[in-house]
Amino acid sequence: MENLASNSESVSTAMDKECIGKQTDPTNIVIFGAGGDLTKRKLIPALVKMLRCGLLHQESKIIGVLKGRSLDEWLASLKEGISEYAKDVDVNNEQWKNFSAMFKMVDGDLADDATYQLLDAALENLNGFTHAMFYCAVPPRMYTTIAAGLHKQGLSDQTKGFRRVVIEKPFGMDLKSSKQLNQELQELLSETQIYRIDHYLGKESVQNLLVYRFANTILEPLWNRNYVDHIQISAAEDIGIGYRANYYEKSGALRDMIQSHLMQVMTLVAMEPPVEFTAKAVRDEKIKVLRAVRHFEKDTVKKETVAAQYSSGTIGDAKIKAYVAEEGVSADSVTETFSAARFYIDNWRWQGVPFILWTGKRLPKRVSEIVIRFRKLPFNLFDTHATPPIANSLVFRLHPDEGIFLRMNAKMPGLTTDTQRMVMRAPYSEDGQDVSDAYEVLLHDVLTGDATLFSRADEVEESWSIIEPILDVWKDRISIDRYRAGSWDVPGMDELFTDCVGGWHKPS
Ligand SMILES: NC(=O)c1ccc[n+]([C@@H]2O[C@H](COP(=O)([O-])OP(=O)(O)OC[C@H]3O[C@@H](n4cnc5c(N)ncnc54)[C@H](OP(=O)(O)O)[C@@H]3O)[C@@H](O)[C@H]2O)c1
Repeated sequence: MENLASNSESVSTAMDKECIGKQTDPTNIVIFGAGGDLTKRKLIPALVKMLRCGLLHQESKIIGVLKGRSLDEWLASLKEGISEYAKDVDVNNEQWKNFSAMFKMVDGDLADDATYQLLDAALENLNGFTHAMFYCAVPPRMYTTIAAGLHKQGLSDQTKGFRRVVIEKPFGMDLKSSKQLNQELQELLSETQIYRIDHYLGKESVQNLLVYRFANTILEPLWNRNYVDHIQISAAEDIGIGYRANYYEKSGALRDMIQSHLMQVMTLVAMEPPVEFTAKAVRDEKIKVLRAVRHFEKDTVKKETVAAQYSSGTIGDAKIKAYVAEEGVSADSVTETFSAARFYIDNWRWQGVPFILWTGKRLPKRVSEIVIRFRKLPFNLFDTHATPPIANSLVFRLHPDEGIFLRMNAKMPGLTTDTQRMVMRAPYSEDGQDVSDAYEVLLHDVLTGDATLFSRADEVEESWSIIEPILDVWKDRISIDRYRAGSWDVPGMDELFTDCVGGWHKPS
């Protein structure tokens, strides 16, 4: 690894964090949908931080494609976004002058061939760089339109430099539409040009899982059906759906979180060690996990999944309205805002070990974790005492307070053999140290051509085929269980864990 701090000196007067990573080749970055929320909240703050760190070549240009706005209006909105979402970047001094000189704008509709001609001309007259990254920060229905526009104009041709196209989930809404999207894109681009981003995998704590698994020997002997009772992978959120009612009503929690983020994390937890740490080797192991996942039957969907929707309640001091009262949601909506599913991986390592993935909105707190719950004691010496020993759990906290916790039993101090629970904590970052934002990690990966953390077409289709039987059963429902916003009282969750040691782990 190389420390590249020096390259950023001309644009950074206040660099305050270690910038470790490979410098990217000189590349121009094109953002389609550059006037949207993702660009403002995530992409620009991440790019600006990368630039400041020297991880993005300082002569790179960022070309926003948007319609109906002037360059000044666009820049003003980016500046506002940086002040809000990249607070450690000072936008009131010389720095902003340097940053803003990087931005170019192409005004046009994405469905119009003329826009790609303008883009081609803009790239031609920039800085002589031949590499380009195209980021589709637009609604998914536009992905094929953009790929076709790039293709027609010759902008996806890689003869002179790489041309990589990044798309955001959802990659289809079911198996059929995901296959269609893959097919359409692969007719216009090669699979190696397509980077399907999953920001969950960009979290340092998720990557750290791979290092913990494959750079330490002590876990491997325990990491299988002989020692593990079950595994929980969760993403609890206290927020609601924001302005996304239109999307969420069609999607629901299963599609939105489980099919994508949580199943991806499951593959990393369950996969065999790859033969080398390359995109192909890692993705080959991940797809083997997905292929081994047992498919649901109609009757197992009922027993092994949970769907529920929040009703009104309170979180902290805030009164929360019911999902059905949210703007844009129909009053008789039966869309699930909470979902859980119990998966089995039919292979030697994991036979019989449930992987329970769950997610929900308007829960008491925002926490995302992987809980490896070990089997109960074979024989309990201490069961006559007040606090019986618990089964050990190894918890990978993905968010917030990234780190690893091991729940153990210890002796109570004093003249007693009573046990008490203790937690060994290993925070991922010491106080004051930065954990990189997922978008910084992933944009850097795209620019350096590392596709390890991006989903390949076969993975996406395989995960949809696993989810499909659940969707088939759920699509006919006419009512849904409710949980109070701000509570863990989700009907069906305790039952889902009845035979799991220690039951449902509600984050504390
Ligand atoms: N926001 C997030 O945090 C987030 C997180 C995960 C995934 N995503 C995904 O990222 C993508 C973008 O999300 P977003 O939240 O940024 O959406 P957004 O705020 O609606 O932005 C989309 C942008 O695309 C532009 N656009 C749409 N059709 C166009 C056309 N024909 N010609 C030119 N511009 C067009 C829109 O321009 P107008 O405003 O002029 O219509 C808008 O600026 C979506 O696929 C979303 O699912 C977003």
